[in-house]
Amino acid sequence: HYQGIIFDLDGVICHTDAYHYLAWKKLADRLGVYFDKQINNRLRGISRMESLDIILENSKNVYTDAEKHEFAEEKNEYYRQLLVQMSPADLSADVKNTLDILRKIGCKLAIGSSSKNARYILERIGLGHYFDAVVDGNEIQHSKPDPEVFLLAAQRLGIVSSSCLVVEDAAAGIEAAVRGGFDAAGLGDARVSPFAKYHLIQFDELIDIITGN
Ligand code: BG6
Ligand code: MG
Repeated sequence: HYQGIIFDLDGVICHTDAYHYLAWKKLADRLGVYFDKQINNRLRGISRMESLDIILENSKNVYTDAEKHEFAEEKNEYYRQLLVQMSPADLSADVKNTLDILRKIGCKLAIGSSSKNARYILERIGLGHYFDAVVDGNEIQHSKPDPEVFLLAAQRLGIVSSSCLVVEDAAAGIEAAVRGGFDAAGLGDARVSPFAKYHLIQFDELIDIITGN
């Protein structure tokens, strides 16, 4: 009964976690703020500015909004320098084959990402013109767990939420999906989420879900 699927990008279609970590770490070191991989895990699915606020919880200093925007910009420059090395080799065969099959059987495919770098990342991994709709962090006012990004993606596909499945690796993303009236499939961190209807071990399980097997 699903006519379309909306995929989160980071942690679902490709893996940018390590790059986010390195870029935030470089900023945090410069500011003398403690930062580790556990804290990095808390940044999944949420916006750049909200991520910065979490990182600055460990700072003794109080910064102005203007300073925080500069820090976020600095982190993004480090991050973009790292993204340059991404290529179609960063798209797994499992993910690519599954997307191809889903498309062949008539399923509409969209991206719903909090990232403002989503279109650049899609280009790097060779999916620049692949999806029927791409909605990213540049187009939304409210980040996940607000459902805005997924609702806009469903609207672009011309499909109601109840006929769209959302695939997510972050708790904030599963919550956004449920709040928007979507069924959610969790993988990675979010695989064990009690709010996800499906718990994916492998990406290609999506084919069975869509064909109703
Ligand atoms: C999400 C990531 O996809 O994008 C988050 O899971 C990240 O960790 C967010 O903070 C915003 O990314 P960007 O590329 O706009 O800084
Ligand atoms: Mg994600």
